[in-house]
Amino acid sequence: MQEDIGRIINELHLYEKKVLKSLESSKSITPEEVVNSQKLDIKSVMSASGSLASKEIIDVQKDVEEILSLSDDGENYAKEGLPERKLLNLLQQEGTVHMKDLGVKSGLNPSDVKIGVGWLVRKQWAKINQGEVNITDKGKEMADNLGEDEKLLAALMEKGQISLDILDHELQQGFKLLKSRKGLIDIDKNTSHTLILTEKGQEILNQGIVIQEEATQLTHKQLKSGEWKNLKYRGYDVKAEYPEFNPGKMHPLRRIIEEIRNVFINLGFNESKGPILESAFWNFDCLFQPQDHAAREMQDTFYIKNPSHSKLPDDILVSKVAQAHQNGGETGSEGWGYLWDKEVARQSVLRTHTTGVSARFLAENEPPLKMFSVGKVFRRETITYKHLPEFHQVEGIVAGDEVNFRNLLGILKEFYKKLGFEVRFRPAYFPYTYLSTECEIYLPEKESWIELGGAGMFRPEVLEPLGIDTPVAAFGLGIERLAMIRLGIKDIRMLYKSDIGWLRKLPITQGVDV
Ligand code: DAH
Repeated sequence: MQEDIGRIINELHLYEKKVLKSLESSKSITPEEVVNSQKLDIKSVMSASGSLASKEIIDVQKDVEEILSLSDDGENYAKEGLPERKLLNLLQQEGTVHMKDLGVKSGLNPSDVKIGVGWLVRKQWAKINQGEVNITDKGKEMADNLGEDEKLLAALMEKGQISLDILDHELQQGFKLLKSRKGLIDIDKNTSHTLILTEKGQEILNQGIVIQEEATQLTHKQLKSGEWKNLKYRGYDVKAEYPEFNPGKMHPLRRIIEEIRNVFINLGFNESKGPILESAFWNFDCLFQPQDHAAREMQDTFYIKNPSHSKLPDDILVSKVAQAHQNGGETGSEGWGYLWDKEVARQSVLRTHTTGVSARFLAENEPPLKMFSVGKVFRRETITYKHLPEFHQVEGIVAGDEVNFRNLLGILKEFYKKLGFEVRFRPAYFPYTYLSTECEIYLPEKESWIELGGAGMFRPEVLEPLGIDTPVAAFGLGIERLAMIRLGIKDIRMLYKSDIGWLRKLPITQGVDV
């Protein structure tokens, strides 16, 4: 508790301290008194009091006082007398007056006559019998006495304003009567507050608080001169409640993509991009995928109707690729041994992987080089909790005389480590690489490994036509599955669903920061 009090004191705002200090001599005080004694404005006192109250250091008692005064109509009645009083005076003289003569004889207008007769009867000052208005005994008695309501009218006329709280019983009755007549009395509400020290507040005062100016904003000068070291700072309550708010933020999938880009940029890779609408040539042929390869079949690849065909690169490259497929050309290989068809290579496809970006880059750049590319790829897949017909890959190549398969594994290990994952490698097959491997990362919760992408050393059948004579390590890795693991989601569709509730609840930063 003692420690607690120390922490509370440390977190008190200067104004809160001043309000508390004012409660040292008397246990209860008005905010106005604090304004005077501490030279604070009322707003600051009220907000400091509110904050002290929320910490149960003081109670803020709210009193609402009702102040009565006369309206214009009320003032008229106070001066002239109530209509029933005028009628009573008339009846006092004449005993009985017929209803139809009341107006003329009293000098009241018809509406006041109506009001006056109503109240005569209600106050039992008169009785009406077949149109005759007769004074009662009570009426006779009241002829020389003021009623409770008339007394209040007179008092208000004299004083101008009276607080409802101080009315005696008689005037309170008068107030009830007048209030029921509507429009005669104005009621103003006067709210006042009293600040009362609680036990906790007393404990804090017992411990003692020091009023000292606090630094709220540091100036350049204070920082430069070292003055900041001697300033007093208020402690922050890091556990204080805060209002929930939903700032705009990057989509979690986008965040991971940015994180991945950052990893490769930090590893010294250049970023490249390629078209989503690609020719079969770049997507398949120049990667030494034979034209009857299963991946080209309709169930895997989206072929485009319009434009149905794409332009091929220069003839030399095209004929070298054709040679590589047909008989190996100058690659030292026997090739696939079939007749390569230019028209098949011209077909337009939605790229099925980003490996074509690597091939394009190699056609235009000289090793040594390090390139990566992030982008969407498309495959004809049935949508399930773990499959989508479009998803992202990160593709990369490292080319140079000294580059080997071990380097490739090292890069992949490093990449996954930076994202917080452990990777292992399994032998694999791709038409464009030798050696080839598949990367798997470990899921501790499931105690299992999942496959995330492929990698390998590009074959001579790929490199020779592109004019590359150094080894090239290459990799292509899926991103959505990483995102699923990172975000702890079981259904890949969540990433594309725009579920605003889920998105809002996700922390702004997750895992390794961008
Ligand atoms: N393109 C392959 C896929 O989509 C992945 C891949 C494997 C990319 C080996 C490469 C590589 O660059 O060398 O599954």
